[in-house]
Amino acid sequence: MSAQLLAGKKGIIFGALNSESIAWKVAEAAHAHGAKFTLTNAPIAMRMGELNGLAEKTGSKVIPADATSMEDLEKLFRESQEILGGKLDFVLHSIGMSVNVRKGKHYTDLNYDWLQKGWDVSAVSFHKVLQTAWKLDSMNEWGSILALTYMAAQRTFPDYNDMADNKAYLESIARSFGYHFGVEKKVRVNTISQSPTMTTAGSGVKGFDGFIKYAEDMSPLGNATAEDCANYCITLFSDLTKRVTMQNLFHDGGFSNMGVSNLVMQQFMKEK
Ligand SMILES: NC(=O)c1ccc[n+]([C@@H]2O[C@H](COP(=O)([O-])OP(=O)(O)OC[C@H]3O[C@@H](n4cnc5c(N)ncnc54)[C@H](O)[C@@H]3O)[C@@H](O)[C@H]2O)c1
Repeated sequence: MSAQLLAGKKGIIFGALNSESIAWKVAEAAHAHGAKFTLTNAPIAMRMGELNGLAEKTGSKVIPADATSMEDLEKLFRESQEILGGKLDFVLHSIGMSVNVRKGKHYTDLNYDWLQKGWDVSAVSFHKVLQTAWKLDSMNEWGSILALTYMAAQRTFPDYNDMADNKAYLESIARSFGYHFGVEKKVRVNTISQSPTMTTAGSGVKGFDGFIKYAEDMSPLGNATAEDCANYCITLFSDLTKRVTMQNLFHDGGFSNMGVSNLVMQQFMKEK
């Protein structure tokens, strides 16, 4: 590693479930860049036990927390600050789940109890994380808080279902809370809009295999991988991006500005 962009920085990383998870790659990259952090996930996800391996590898402690529980979050932030020895410089929110997607409920026939659960886990939890950090005054000046999102917040991808609405809400929270965090605490709040990526959450979306190939062929630079995303997160946690805030940052190999690519067009052209 040539530069240690996060040397001396402390943080919390939410959402590493297994080695495919984007948060897992972020933890590995943050460790390589000299950061110290705690790892957290929902108590139910802990049962799979994989997180302990990552904790060992990165010299981190694991603190279970359901990101929808203010009590769990307060405990997580307090303990993290104790373990790491002071205020935090970065937080990654890498959490998403829709019960309607999981159970194959169509968007025109949503179950609203499930919708509320998914909205709470995928979107409101980001407000809860921000509010906890705000009230406990957990962040150092020029700290950086990031959440991961997807372009279905702006454009229609039918099978993304109610997650599209959750992501629109999540991105709005980054702007709204980003204002307050900027003015009063000099802390950045952004979302990264990542390419489709083969993870547990990603592959839960219907037709994901075909879609990932389509996105690959549409993107001039190809799909951004989970490792690419981790590297982008490191730059946004570092001091090199101090005045980037309240942004939704597309990290997608160019997909979001494409109309159509030659590779995709070839599949619709008649042979002459
Ligand atoms: N995979 C993709 O194609 C893709 C694309 C763009 C954005 N994203 C976003 O990236 C983020 C990470 O997803 P991933 O693809 O790495 O999948 P993943 O399944 O590895 O991660 C999702 C995480 O959310 C956690 N989680 C669920 N409920 C929780 C709760 N109540 N409290 C705390 N944690 C909870 C899960 O345990 C899991 O670790 C999500 O926000 C996802 O929407 C993913």
